[in-house]
Amino acid sequence: MIPADPSGRLSLLRRIQEGDLVIVYERHDHMKAVKVINGSVLQNRFGVFKHSDWIGKKFGSKVFSHKKGFVYLLAPTPELWTLVLSHRTQILYIADISFLVMYLEIVPGCVVLESGTGSGSLTTSLARAVAPMGHVHTFDFHEQRAASAREDFEKTGVNKLVTVGVRDIQGEGFPDELIGQADAVFLDLPQPWLAIPSAGKMLKADGILCSFSPCIEQVQRSCETLELKFTDIRTFEILLRTYEIKEVRAEVGEGDDGFSLRSPPRKKRQHSTEKGSAVEASGATTVMAKPCSETRGHTGYLTFARLKCL
Ligand SMILES: C[S@@+](CC[C@H](N)C(=O)[O-])C[C@H]1O[C@@H](n2cnc3c(N)ncnc32)[C@H](O)[C@@H]1O
Repeated sequence: MIPADPSGRLSLLRRIQEGDLVIVYERHDHMKAVKVINGSVLQNRFGVFKHSDWIGKKFGSKVFSHKKGFVYLLAPTPELWTLVLSHRTQILYIADISFLVMYLEIVPGCVVLESGTGSGSLTTSLARAVAPMGHVHTFDFHEQRAASAREDFEKTGVNKLVTVGVRDIQGEGFPDELIGQADAVFLDLPQPWLAIPSAGKMLKADGILCSFSPCIEQVQRSCETLELKFTDIRTFEILLRTYEIKEVRAEVGEGDDGFSLRSPPRKKRQHSTEKGSAVEASGATTVMAKPCSETRGHTGYLTFARLKCL
């Protein structure tokens, strides 16, 4: 996921090589993953970009097309991968992922079990969190999804950190050979309560489980099962508030796009509007910020629980 240096250590410092995956960044909402192949080109609205020009450049470099258009070549971090991967299922996004990786206390060397794998959005972050010595065992009962996830993990370079199994975790539970091995278990399943007893057996003493569910009824059922063997049960809903920034001319009055300016600014100042927008005005143009109208709302509930130590 993060490029590795010649000794195999994850490194953002090394230069782009043939075969690397790069995230081609046009704008924050326009990125794509591209494998660097000498002799290939990338064509977009900014022109034609030769991959050969990219080789030897540092990740983060600005590169130019034949007509002087430009893009940035970013390292394929899990954060960016989550934004560009192909969605074969619903996926987890950065707000939930970052919270759960921390709350599950996942650090290098940990062993983590996950089901279902889905599109592998969470798995790539789990892999980086446990690298270089830990391991993620992820299971999905859908063969094709498991195969596509394996291909993606090869592509992003986390394949040595992840094993993908095809298994009905709600029906059969996790495999016996993993009993007592897991520091953390993560479930993103339609009926997680069916998998919780097995997840409990997989955890080391004091291990933590997290279950993601979009509906509160699923959470209630999971909690009833968790109470038998787990303690410190908590449910969170993570809401992310993003902002839109726009530069407008100071003369503009009430806008029809939600950006409103109450009075033309004469000197630099900063204040908040009723809608909570921060306004910084200076001279002829004004920078305005307002909460994004399309901010993603509810994704789901994250329920955490710690295995009871007997
Ligand atoms: C919402 S997706 C998981 C998305 C994943 N967390 C991500 O971030 O990409 C749920 C996955 O669970 C799998 N699944 C559903 N029931 C299952 C079961 N009984 N055993 C294993 N996997 C199951 C589905 O095939 C699906 O791929």
